[in-house]
This record gives sequence, structure tokens and C-alpha cells, in this order.
Amino acid sequence: MSPTVSEAPGHTAAASSSAITIRPLPGSFAAEVLGLDLSQPLADDDFRRIHQAHLDHHVLVFRDQHITPQQQIDFSRRFGPLQIHVLHQFQLPGHPEILIVSNIVENGRPVGLGDAGHYWHSDLSYVEKPSLGSMLLAQELPAEGGDTLFADQHAAWDALPEPLKARVRHLKAEHSYLAKYEELRARSPWRPKLSEEQIAQVKPSVHPVVRAHPETGRLGLFVSEHFTTRIVGLPDDESRALLAELFERSTLPAFQYRHVWRDGDMVFWDNRSVVHLATGCPEHLRRRLNRTTIEGTTPQ
Ligand code: SIN
Repeated sequence: MSPTVSEAPGHTAAASSSAITIRPLPGSFAAEVLGLDLSQPLADDDFRRIHQAHLDHHVLVFRDQHITPQQQIDFSRRFGPLQIHVLHQFQLPGHPEILIVSNIVENGRPVGLGDAGHYWHSDLSYVEKPSLGSMLLAQELPAEGGDTLFADQHAAWDALPEPLKARVRHLKAEHSYLAKYEELRARSPWRPKLSEEQIAQVKPSVHPVVRAHPETGRLGLFVSEHFTTRIVGLPDDESRALLAELFERSTLPAFQYRHVWRDGDMVFWDNRSVVHLATGCPEHLRRRLNRTTIEGTTPQ
């Protein structure tokens, strides 16, 4: 199965490059991509290699990408249509497809969403068509901290005890953007009061607890502590206990990759295969990244 490859506006035919190296990162499922300059048109053969590597590794780290917002958008669009985040306050001016993730406050106003990724999650799992993947491009990095953790949900599923697999295989769960919103709002300057229109944009969705990856067919867990509120059809206490167990099992250290950011990194992860968490950095250190999210399909 292959994705819908929408031609990005800036996409022109280009010769494929044998200089690209895709190198697994030691001790992890992720891989780094070297020798690729995303400010230049990407040949279709190279695109296919990147696409396959993304399916194989779930997290790709493109090194040395000093690209413009439009180049990030154009590359992202080759994987599908882009999603616009409900917090329009933190869109990059002139580029609504980019969400600024940042703890920086300028003239008393936060420039981006500073607590994005505070809890484990898969991006936009609360909409009917959650994100296929997200690209996060470093703009300004702290000297200390600010790492991002990723946990492989196929490995987490594979490792579940058989009775637990049988119990959860056909369950469904509700995902809600608002689940932790007020809790985060109470202790951060990054959560504005949502308008009625914004609330209407983020109605909860129900998805399978175990989803089949639409391109590889691999099963993976699809619940997260940030957005999953309840298992449909179970009494509250049972639902809470089961979710707590799944949250724990899905993010065990054995399934994790820790990304330590470097200048020029752009990380592209598969939200159908991993959940992720921002580990945070000391408050006085500046951190800023630009994020695009690509629309996926309704989980099955
Ligand atoms: C996110 O959850 O998209 C942000 C992750 C990060 O800032 O490390």
C-alpha cells in the first residue's frame, strides 16, 4: 500500500541522489538521514526511499536541515494534506500549517505552545483522522534538556501478555483534546481560554485501542495518557484501571528512543507507530521548534 503523494507546490522533477545515507541509531528503532538537503527538490526515487525508511524506523532524524518554513511545508505535503492546529494563536505568521512549539515569552506573550507534549500522546488522536506523522524542525535549542522521547507501539503491542491482548484487541476508546486542557491551563501561560468555535473543532473521537498500521498492516496500541479518556462500554473504574495498565506498558523504557536535539535536526515521526513525550528543559533556557502535522486515515 502506498500513501497519497500530493505534489507540493514547489515540487519539481529532480535527479535521485546516491549520497543519501539512512543509518539506524544505535540501540533504537529510529534512524538518521544524512546527505540530504531538503531545501532542494527531492527526486521521486529518493522520496520513495525516505517513505520506506519512515515505515521501517517510525522516527527519522534528518540532520543539517537549515530550511525555510515553506520548504518544511512543501516536504511535509508530499506525504499528505496538512492539519491546522486548533490553537491558532501559535501558528507561524503567514504559515498556518506550522505550529510553533516554544517556551519563549516575548513582550509578555508566549510565542508558541510551551507545554506541547507534556504527556505521552500521538498527535491529534482526538480527531476522526489523526495525524499520519509530524515533522519538528529545531529553531533554537537549550544548552541543557529539551529531549523528546518516542515509544514504539508495535513493540509494546507485541510484548503484551496473550490474555491482555485478547481482552483489548477489539475494544474502543474515546480521545479528547480537552481531557487535560484545564489541568494544563491551571499551571501554564500557554493554554488560552478556548472559544466556542475552537471547542466545536475538537469534539472527542472514538478509535480502536489496537490499530492496524494502514500501510504496513502491523498492529500497535493506540491509547495515550494525554488524550485517551475512557474505554467504551466498560464501567469507569475498570476503564481507568485498564488504561493505566496500557499507558504503563506502552511507554516502558525498553520501547523508547530518546532524541537529543542537535542544531539543524528535523525529526519526522509516524504517529500511527509511536507515542511521544517532551521531557522539558529549565525554564530560563530558550527552546523553539516548528511543527507540521500530516493528516492520516481513520484508525481501523
Ligand atoms: C510535541 O508533542 O509535538 C512536541 C514535542 C517536543 O517539543 O519535544
